[in-house]
Amino acid sequence: MRKKIVAGNWKMNKTVEEAVALVEGLKLELADVVGVEAVVCPPFTALKTVSDLIADTEIKLGCQNMSDQDDGAYTGEVSHTMLKELFVKYVILGHSERREYYGETDAIVNSKVKKALSKNLRPIVCVGEKLEDREGGNTEKVVEEQVRGSLADITAEQFEDVVVAYEPVWAIGTGKTATAEQAQEVHAFIRGIVADMVGQEAADGLRIQYGGSMKPANAPELLSQPDIDGGLIGGAALEAQSFAGIVKAGM
Ligand code: G3P
Repeated sequence: MRKKIVAGNWKMNKTVEEAVALVEGLKLELADVVGVEAVVCPPFTALKTVSDLIADTEIKLGCQNMSDQDDGAYTGEVSHTMLKELFVKYVILGHSERREYYGETDAIVNSKVKKALSKNLRPIVCVGEKLEDREGGNTEKVVEEQVRGSLADITAEQFEDVVVAYEPVWAIGTGKTATAEQAQEVHAFIRGIVADMVGQEAADGLRIQYGGSMKPANAPELLSQPDIDGGLIGGAALEAQSFAGIVKAGM
């Protein structure tokens, strides 16, 4: 049985003050949640504050990027040591916005994934096709390339700490959600690729989140699909009630 995982990717939103207000709301809303892992991924500037606020709760801390280097002259980067000091557990890697705006390739993502796993941080590895890929019938080709490239050389044992997020780019922040059938189809496809890479057992244990305009209203149907093990939430994670509504849909 895979435990569902719902993570809020706050992206470049929330000052420290706003983060405090959101987390106070989440603590109330999520107090009675059982059986679903809830993760918040604030911007780096709010990590310390959020970490302190959730220390006595079941809410887990994640972040939105990480350097593949240990330390040194890498201006603007943040290392695994700095993140672990703040009790960060999950690291979103290879988000489509990082691939699109900051030139992150599968090779770069793979290097970060390896670094995270070697330091006991759990990567949430994002993959997903663009609209033109889907319309051109290339969804599987693109997703397979990203899965194999971003997760190259990861062992079956290491896969226990990996989460994959399938985020069709055309559904991100657009209000256009993939239908439950479309999402399920790609999730099952991803699990099949992972089975081919590292074996069926590891693939069966892998949690695959859906991301892209997920809301409390569409979460129940998406989360009831056999291969959808949670969500990676953008817009709806910026408000306590809507994020909690999605988490609770996974119970
Ligand atoms: O990482 C989450 C994401 O990209 C989805 O964003 O706003 O469509 O829920 P949104």
